[in-house]
Amino acid sequence: MKYFELISNNRDVLIYLQQADENFKALGYTEQGLTHAKQTATIVEKILSELNFSEQDIDIGKSAGFLHDIGCCVAYKEHARTGAILTNKLLSKMSIPQKEILKITNIIGSHEDMDNTPVSDISAVVMLADKTDVRRERVIKTDFKLFDKHDRVHYAVIKNDLKVLPNVKKLILELQIDDKICSVLEYFELFMSRINFCKKAVSKLGLSFEFYINDIRYL
Ligand SMILES: [Fe+2]
Repeated sequence: MKYFELISNNRDVLIYLQQADENFKALGYTEQGLTHAKQTATIVEKILSELNFSEQDIDIGKSAGFLHDIGCCVAYKEHARTGAILTNKLLSKMSIPQKEILKITNIIGSHEDMDNTPVSDISAVVMLADKTDVRRERVIKTDFKLFDKHDRVHYAVIKNDLKVLPNVKKLILELQIDDKICSVLEYFELFMSRINFCKKAVSKLGLSFEFYINDIRYL
């Protein structure tokens, strides 16, 4: 059985991710639990498959993508490092070889280190998938009056389309934003560091990055 199947169906992993959901709901943050875990794993699979990575690499990438925010069951602060330690503990009970566990924990432990170059191509893809998962569904609050800037940016994103074009060595991110909810300027105020990081991660993969909002090219 693939590691991803083992991990994503493991009872303890699911309990930890549900706890992360509950913590973030209480704090009023955007969703960072089970749905974001599944979405990140899906984006990782798409990018790695399009780039012709091996099945083993895709399995490691999806597993790390699924688990990357598991540390949020403890606290948001330092969640990457906490998540790496929790992952080591959880995966050691699943008959996964230690060498493979270390590949996964390394990706998780460094996924917030946006000032550094990603440690590997798979790590770059996991960080990219995490940072590009901007969706209306991630907003937990239901009262628009209580939305903070993070909620507004996520809620404003109507369409998020990530395309990998290996033949021309490009990765393209196209967003459609409802600018009555959040202006493009507000988007950049909040997410400029993410976009710069995406550029860095894409370059690690030997690709160039194009970024569009409402059909206007910004990068
Ligand atoms: Fe995340």
